[in-house]
Amino acid sequence: MNKVTTTALAEMKRKGERITALTAYDAPTARLLDEAEVDVTLVGDSVANVKLGYANTIPVTVDEILHHVKAVRRGLSRSLLVADMPYLSYELDHREALRNAGRLIKEGGAEAVKVEGGIEVAPVVKELLRVNIPVMGHLGLTPQAVNRLGGFKVQGRRPQDAEKIVTDARILEGAGVFALVLECVPEDLAREVTRKLSIPTIGIGAGSSCDGQILVVDDLLGLGEAPPPRFVKRYADLRPVMLEALKNWTSDVRSSAFPGPDQSYPAKAPAARAKRP
Ligand code: KIV
Repeated sequence: MNKVTTTALAEMKRKGERITALTAYDAPTARLLDEAEVDVTLVGDSVANVKLGYANTIPVTVDEILHHVKAVRRGLSRSLLVADMPYLSYELDHREALRNAGRLIKEGGAEAVKVEGGIEVAPVVKELLRVNIPVMGHLGLTPQAVNRLGGFKVQGRRPQDAEKIVTDARILEGAGVFALVLECVPEDLAREVTRKLSIPTIGIGAGSSCDGQILVVDDLLGLGEAPPPRFVKRYADLRPVMLEALKNWTSDVRSSAFPGPDQSYPAKAPAARAKRP
């Protein structure tokens, strides 16, 4: 089981091997992703709405993301660990962007960062690469721009919007991103971008032509309360299972069925079992 690197992902695209990517926000989930041989693990700023109870990704801070990156780092060894740069942690000032990305790499143990946007983030991508921080790009539905986009909607349906996404993708590739997330764009646009770039594209709601796929792990596992977006396929429905277990436990406590003798310690310790000869 070889360690996944940014260059390994480029090689996978060259060989036509599909890239698997999921989000994780804690160590046990990270260990599961490694066991399942997921190639890329993203500590997404989706931690904001998925785990921290915010309405969207806008409020999450570098410190909050960093806390989760450290946890995921402890659980991961094979998968490439990418940390999301939160809103306004990289757009305003290059020195601040370097400091913030540097913390995610140096303190958190991430191996790359992800930024949202096109031509406007190309200069900061170059700055990050100058200090050897690999960068993943993100185009299409960029959740940090939700207020400008007017909601979580498919992007790039109008010809001029599709053209802008293709141009931005080329600019990001030129700036040096090692991979590009394409979120919620029509399938034929994702196919065109994938064909035109030599770096891997990783789709989420972008059809099957991308070089890889990414999902929020809670969506895949059915842990969320709300119905997931159309592009999610649920591979498990864990929330009802968890709820039933919790209800059974509260009911057992109230009826004194828990704890039973098996979960209690007698005053006298049982005699130690004889060892086998
Ligand atoms: O924050 C996130 O989880 C993401 C993706 C799922 C691409 O950016």
